[in-house]
Amino acid sequence: MATRRPLLAGNWKMHGTRSETERLLSALTQALGGVNPAQREIVVAPPFSALETAARLLADTPIRLAAQNLHWEPHGAFTGEVSGPMLKEAGCTYVILGHSERRQYFAETDESVARKVRAAQRDGLLPIICVGESLEERESGATLAVIDRQIRGALQDPELDPELDQAPAALTGLVIAYEPIWAIGTGRSATPDQAQEVHAAIRATLGSLTSPATADATRLLYGGSVKPDTVDALMARPDIDGALVGGASLQADSFARIVNFR
Ligand code: PGA
Repeated sequence: MATRRPLLAGNWKMHGTRSETERLLSALTQALGGVNPAQREIVVAPPFSALETAARLLADTPIRLAAQNLHWEPHGAFTGEVSGPMLKEAGCTYVILGHSERRQYFAETDESVARKVRAAQRDGLLPIICVGESLEERESGATLAVIDRQIRGALQDPELDPELDQAPAALTGLVIAYEPIWAIGTGRSATPDQAQEVHAAIRATLGSLTSPATADATRLLYGGSVKPDTVDALMARPDIDGALVGGASLQADSFARIVNFR
């Protein structure tokens, strides 16, 4: 079995002016000074406008930068959008794609997420693809079917016949975040059992789209009200390889405790 390096990522959402970013990152780099980057990978995702500031502050640290979205074209007449090459130049290693807030408020679909995944790979960014069911879908027993559809949707190539599987090589290095919508920002995390069940199903879907080895090497994050007091039990599960953290990543001490899960 592959050893998957745990990945702890902070999604700041629309929080963080440049001065707030400076304050939070200087507290965070101090709090995380002792973390061995070979043992856990740390990522933060500030808003676009703070990426350059963050890149400068993180230059001599192992903390990596993620953007929260991109446009799939490298440039063009797309007012208000930001492309992969721009994010790369600003210092990003990762990009979060298909977050439920983007799907819910900005009309993103499985197809637009698929275009963005392809663009990220073309532009040398590692996608963190978010999937997750609504409360209604969970209560009607549709969770695993919804997640399977979202994973297949995100990984299909919209330029190709949708029936054709994507080449396994294109699927290495990506990260998937399972974020049940009912758990995001509500203080109501999925239980470790609920998260593990979905993570195992995601790994099985990846295995059928790629190869067992690729599925085994892919990191699967849980997100949705991860807090210092819930992270340890989640991370103890075999298919949970990290966390995508919203609210609790905006305080240096709580995010540092999550990074230092036991
Ligand atoms: P939360 O957000 O930790 O505040 O629930 C998680 C996310 O949306 O990525």
